[in-house]
Amino acid sequence: MTEINIVKDAVKKHGRKRESLMPVLQEIVKQENYLSEERLMEIAKEFDLSSAEVYGVATFYSFLPVKPMGENVIKVCQTIVCDMKGKEAVLDAIKDKLNIVPGQTSADGKFSLMAVNCIGQCSNAPAMLVNDKPYINLTYENVVKIIDEYQS
Ligand code: FES
Repeated sequence: MTEINIVKDAVKKHGRKRESLMPVLQEIVKQENYLSEERLMEIAKEFDLSSAEVYGVATFYSFLPVKPMGENVIKVCQTIVCDMKGKEAVLDAIKDKLNIVPGQTSADGKFSLMAVNCIGQCSNAPAMLVNDKPYINLTYENVVKIIDEYQS
């Protein structure tokens, strides 16, 4: 499949209306792991939008990465409940273990960290996803253990 076909195929599948933009963006991330600048431009052309508008939609929904991701993607909820219930300890544990902050990928390419909005686990905050698997009621200690599992 040529590169251009990836976008064209996604548009063919989801349509060209404004409400199809998110599904198309998600489809590209599913296939390529992130949204490159080139892809954002192709999508903009298909939807007759500026690439800045498409970039805005992609980054507003911070689940959509705009740079290459590591083998494992950690998404820490930064929304208010998790924030109040100890999100900082989660980020501290990740920083101590992997030496990364949100938006970064570890030097070995094994982990990327993203700060995302509510992941629907507010009653068990703080929460995070690792490769879309939810982890809840997090503490500094259990985050360290979770990362150990992914490292072994
Ligand atoms: S606020 Fe963090 S999961 Fe909802």
